[in-house]
Amino acid sequence: MKEYKKLRGEIIDRLQKELKDSRYRHTLGVESTAVALARRFGADEQEASIAALLHDVAKYVPAEEQLEWIRKGKIGAQFPDIDQYPKLLHAFAGAEICAHDYPQLPECVIDAIRYHTTGRSHMGLMEKIIFAADYIEPGRVQFIGLQEAREQTFADLDLGVGLILKQTIAYLEQNGAPCFPLTQEAYKHFVDDSMNVLEKLPGV
Ligand SMILES: [Fe+2]
Ligand SMILES: [Fe+2]
Repeated sequence: MKEYKKLRGEIIDRLQKELKDSRYRHTLGVESTAVALARRFGADEQEASIAALLHDVAKYVPAEEQLEWIRKGKIGAQFPDIDQYPKLLHAFAGAEICAHDYPQLPECVIDAIRYHTTGRSHMGLMEKIIFAADYIEPGRVQFIGLQEAREQTFADLDLGVGLILKQTIAYLEQNGAPCFPLTQEAYKHFVDDSMNVLEKLPGV
């Protein structure tokens, strides 16, 4: 990636200003995990680093501003009820903000930011790396299934993504929270459609 070091430095400065300390630490954990996964699975490590650093950049942008970015952005028209899912806004808005602020970034980096919370069916390699790294980064507070998700992801990225989706949907069901359509589609793609995946998954 052209001028990677300079760009990474600029982004780090921005994150230190715009993110809370805990979110900044989480972001660095996602970066190191994403770079390790990129090395393991043959993706571009610098692109993984930048996508990871930027994945939560919109976390503290006011909700109304996030909605404006989404409504005028790539998937705004597709999901008119997006305001019903407040936890997803930062991912979709973040992708639009990054496409605007860093026009040199490849589409795979922008999509990895956009789908890092929901996933989607047919995720590309970089999308899967950021989706999984966000879930398994070393700073995550221990919870049931985390260690399995880490091991599974480094052994087989698709199986890891499937397990994370399974655990995420179980968590949403337990909490009576609605599951976004993209996540349902991702679940069907990475879990339902492959009996091999289901058989290999440990119980949640
Ligand atoms: Fe996020
Ligand atoms: Fe995150």
